[in-house]
Amino acid sequence: MTSEASDRGFGIVGAGVIAAMHAAAIATLPSARLAAVTDVAAGAAAAFAAARGCAAEPGLDALLARPDVDVVCVCVPSGLHAEVGVRAAMAGKHLVVEKPIDVTLAAADRLIEAARTAGVALTVISQHRFDPGLIELKRLLGDGALGRLVLAEASTKWYRTQAYYDSAEWRGTWAMDGGSLMNQGIHYVDLLRWCMGPVTEVTAVCATQAHQVEVEDTAMAIVRFGSGAVGTILSSTAAYPGFPQRLEVTGTDGTVIVEDGRIVRRAFGPQDGASEAEGSARTGALGGHGAAADPAAIEVASHAAQIADLLAAIEEGRAPAVDGQAGRDALEIVRAVYTSARTGAPVRLTGP
Ligand SMILES: NC(=O)c1ccc[n+]([C@@H]2O[C@H](COP(=O)([O-])OP(=O)(O)OC[C@H]3O[C@@H](n4cnc5c(N)ncnc54)[C@H](O)[C@@H]3O)[C@@H](O)[C@H]2O)c1
Repeated sequence: MTSEASDRGFGIVGAGVIAAMHAAAIATLPSARLAAVTDVAAGAAAAFAAARGCAAEPGLDALLARPDVDVVCVCVPSGLHAEVGVRAAMAGKHLVVEKPIDVTLAAADRLIEAARTAGVALTVISQHRFDPGLIELKRLLGDGALGRLVLAEASTKWYRTQAYYDSAEWRGTWAMDGGSLMNQGIHYVDLLRWCMGPVTEVTAVCATQAHQVEVEDTAMAIVRFGSGAVGTILSSTAAYPGFPQRLEVTGTDGTVIVEDGRIVRRAFGPQDGASEAEGSARTGALGGHGAAADPAAIEVASHAAQIADLLAAIEEGRAPAVDGQAGRDALEIVRAVYTSARTGAPVRLTGP
């Protein structure tokens, strides 16, 4: 570990699409600097390092042996997150693990336990929790502005080409990736769970219709929350040309609708019919995320905010805002959707 607690060195494992986002996010943070990168494809690590002025290490052990690496960003295929993360935790490194935490609950549990045993901080990326609309929605929920929650919908109607799935061996496989819900939809599954509380029951159907892949490209589920509220989850990579990710939360006193991290509609108080549409956001004046059709088109600010939260958590000795359990909670819902779709029966979730 470096001697200056406020200056943290980062190592990135896996130099692919999302690693560029981690490097860009680290570059925006004054107390963070990128020290090294590694990848099983040595050429990928070398090119990544050359473009960013950091070291390219020949393997994970070499990266973990570096005293100037305090935090490891795990940016490898999803089914390798726990394997890489456990080794990094055992080397005493704090962890930024990309979503999903891994693809099985057993792997997630191994990673959470390794971080706990090693006494290192673990955050699982769910960058949209740091989007302005979600911060505002959580504030409204905390204030009780929506009354008692009754209904919520999380929708990811995106489009991915066959070429996207063919671009790497791991994409679209059960062992390393999972389907549309595990890869793309999980962002808004996490937001749904974060806003609505624990899910107790899931009933789902999945289908593979527009791609040559073993996993689903469309998933739909009905969920019950512990609070008594109900909701739906929809995720697809077959929805051409791709639409904004959407979260709708309805309580007895109103509704808030978020699209791509911005509130586009809020309506409070059925008694007075008050309604405020945020026209500028609706017309796109506030901008938005372009990931609906392009996997690389995501914005850096929310990743940077989540990594900054991890650094603050380390300094303050508290858990990060999105910890390992939060990553596991989202994964548990995704796994329940897959089990229900396979068996045709509702799945009860036991919760933490
Ligand atoms: N938060 C987001 O919005 C977001 C967006 C895209 C991807 N992701 C997540 O990031 C992860 C990576 O996705 P990607 O699109 O960057 O994939 P990618 O295929 O572009 O990159 C993965 C890289 O990891 C390397 N790799 C594979 N096994 C390795 C190992 N054992 N050690 C070191 N390197 C290894 C590969 O050679 C490749 O360069 C996935 O879990 C994905 O779900 C998150």
